[in-house]
Amino acid sequence: MSSCPLPSRISLNNHLFESGVSDELRHLINDIARAGKYVQNAIRTTDLGLAGSSNTFGEDQLKLDVLSNRIVKEELCESRLVCCFASEEESDQLQELVPDAPFTVVFDPLDGSSLVDSNLAIGSIFGIYSAQGKLLGKKPRDQMAAMYLVYGPRTILVYSAGKGTHAFYLNEVGEFTLLQKNLTMRDEVKTYAPGNLRAVVDTPAYRTMMDLWLDEGLTLRYSGGMVPDIHHMLIKGAGIFTNIGGSKYPKGKLRLLYECGPFAYLMEQAGGASSDGEKSILDIDIVDLDQRTPIIIGARGEVKRVAKILRS
Ligand code: F6P
Ligand code: MN
Repeated sequence: MSSCPLPSRISLNNHLFESGVSDELRHLINDIARAGKYVQNAIRTTDLGLAGSSNTFGEDQLKLDVLSNRIVKEELCESRLVCCFASEEESDQLQELVPDAPFTVVFDPLDGSSLVDSNLAIGSIFGIYSAQGKLLGKKPRDQMAAMYLVYGPRTILVYSAGKGTHAFYLNEVGEFTLLQKNLTMRDEVKTYAPGNLRAVVDTPAYRTMMDLWLDEGLTLRYSGGMVPDIHHMLIKGAGIFTNIGGSKYPKGKLRLLYECGPFAYLMEQAGGASSDGEKSILDIDIVDLDQRTPIIIGARGEVKRVAKILRS
């Protein structure tokens, strides 16, 4: 019989342990969670100047992007569990850390950084793959785990290691504590979050979709940050998010490896669905580290309906 008292709260580490996640993966998820704490601290305390460099879209890169990237890289190095990593901030290369280590990590260290000055919620996104075999040629379905942190009025971490999707909040003493286990998507849509809306100009079916949502009286819940916008749906258990191709972004704005893949894994583990218009995001071949994909994600029936209308 265990002499441990019944816990008064369930920590992330405890939850991972009780869920039977392997020790190595548990350690890595804890290490990434620690990186998230440093990123949230940087968000609260950093000067919001420009870094003077820009990413492949020519968007200004805030200092915080660069800093968050460095913070995550440092933690991944320290963990000694990461063979290779690729970051959205340096999306053209797979970088090596510890050759024999078990995992490859892909991440967007600070998604939605253009929202920093307006003080809207932002986030970090992570996908964890086995280090065995080449990343190119795998599919997001091969992820062993995925997680994100959303930095809003509270810092919340959501992870899945293939046994449901679970949410934790950062408590006052700096520990991630269980907020909600087994987030579950109902087959229901009350809110919609339509990204890359400029695509309606040359993708008439997207305009049709918008008109339907307006006529059906859905509520718009769109902040322009993928992390809080999809988090909203996962926490409410309903809704639809899209970022489809058209206008400036023929394949949509979002990247398969760093953004869509991890969210597709978390959403499908919560009973929702994801699609590029044809198939699940989880079944897209990774052919390029910087590859973009259209994404329709959320409640199952609505994902199907949107994909069908966009194909028409
Ligand atoms: O990574 C880019 C991002 O900021 C996402 O967080 C967000 O979903 C998307 O851009 C918003 O795109 P748009 O401006 O096309 O709606
Ligand atoms: Mn991003």
